Amino acid sequence: MSLEQIIKNTIVQNASPIGFDEFMDLALYHPTLGYYRSGLEKFGEKGDFITAPETSDLFGFCLARQCAQVLNGTNDILEFGAGSGVLATQILFELGKLNSLPKKYYILELSGELKHRQAQTINKVLPELMDRVVWLDELPTDFSGVVIANEVLDAMPAKRLIYKNNQFYELGVGFDENFIWQQLTTQFTPTPSVDVKLMNGYTTEVNLRAMAWIDSLYSSVDKGLVLLIDYGMGREEYFHPQRFEGTLRCYHQHKASDDPFINIGEQDITTSVNFSDIADQASVSGFKISGYATQALFLISLGIDEYLLEQLDEDKRINLAQQVKQLVLPSAMGESFKVLALSKNISVKLMGFVEQDLSAKL
Ligand SMILES: C[S@@+](CC[C@H](N)C(=O)[O-])C[C@H]1O[C@@H](n2cnc3c(N)ncnc32)[C@H](O)[C@@H]1O
Repeated sequence: MSLEQIIKNTIVQNASPIGFDEFMDLALYHPTLGYYRSGLEKFGEKGDFITAPETSDLFGFCLARQCAQVLNGTNDILEFGAGSGVLATQILFELGKLNSLPKKYYILELSGELKHRQAQTINKVLPELMDRVVWLDELPTDFSGVVIANEVLDAMPAKRLIYKNNQFYELGVGFDENFIWQQLTTQFTPTPSVDVKLMNGYTTEVNLRAMAWIDSLYSSVDKGLVLLIDYGMGREEYFHPQRFEGTLRCYHQHKASDDPFINIGEQDITTSVNFSDIADQASVSGFKISGYATQALFLISLGIDEYLLEQLDEDKRINLAQQVKQLVLPSAMGESFKVLALSKNISVKLMGFVEQDLSAKL
């Protein structure tokens, strides 16, 4: 049975529209046919999108420097949704150079196919470190060290809402010859926190699963730092009048669209991260907000330019310079991506936020 048929049956059995989060969950994470669970090529030029670690090793090298500030030889790293495994390889390589390897590098990955790919990638480059890498099926208990999630929050199934007559209503997914948006009749709760006046018909997303995830993460961390890197913005920008259609985007073969009802199971579906919501939830859970910056200034704070200067081969340096531009220029990933740092039971002035810390604006 096709994934489309499976989702359609779910709606029919439900006898009413399903939440968009449920639709997104099936489209991305159905055990065999979901986008992230099937064997399709997703990352890089042959896939649908390119993430920062796929763009340049320097991304992971800089993150490693930030990790080194918190790692002490007895604690660990935990990476969520490790993609092709390239970020783990970059971080472990650089931490080896810095003499700051974690005791274990845990990976929590939902996709069996990706776990296999990650093992291949790491084993190819760092076979000597393979015994430190451990794949987990659930959150650990009493974790101590650094937690990393690059482009994971945006891939968590979100709810879609519409604002009408001073209320939010959920937009569910129904079926009538094709998948359609259907407004549910009761007012949506909890009411999203918004500081501006929205127009009638304003459509947006709210990521309740990401909030629940933050809360469980707090319970599972005993002591350490959490680095959340993603495209997104603070509340004020999230609810900008120009974002009238929300932040939902789909990626298929490097083309963006806002139609989740096409290429089901063959395209990525994402929503931008409302970092104010995440920070609020993190504070309620008990985390301390330890920094918030654009990806550009986070990487610059961690000395991304030093890697360029160290490269003596001119051709390689030119190539690296292109990669750095992609990571830091505002027109590329530099400003649309942000880094939010949360901490529990540690007190360190983080190197990554020396140039910029916008946490007070969240
Ligand atoms: C856009 S990919 C990013 C991959 C990789 N981090 C990178 O930067 O190349 C999103 C990843 O998040 C994972 N993911 C989503 N929700 C997750 C969760 N609750 N726990 C762990 N991984 C999750 C997906 O399985 C997928 O591997």
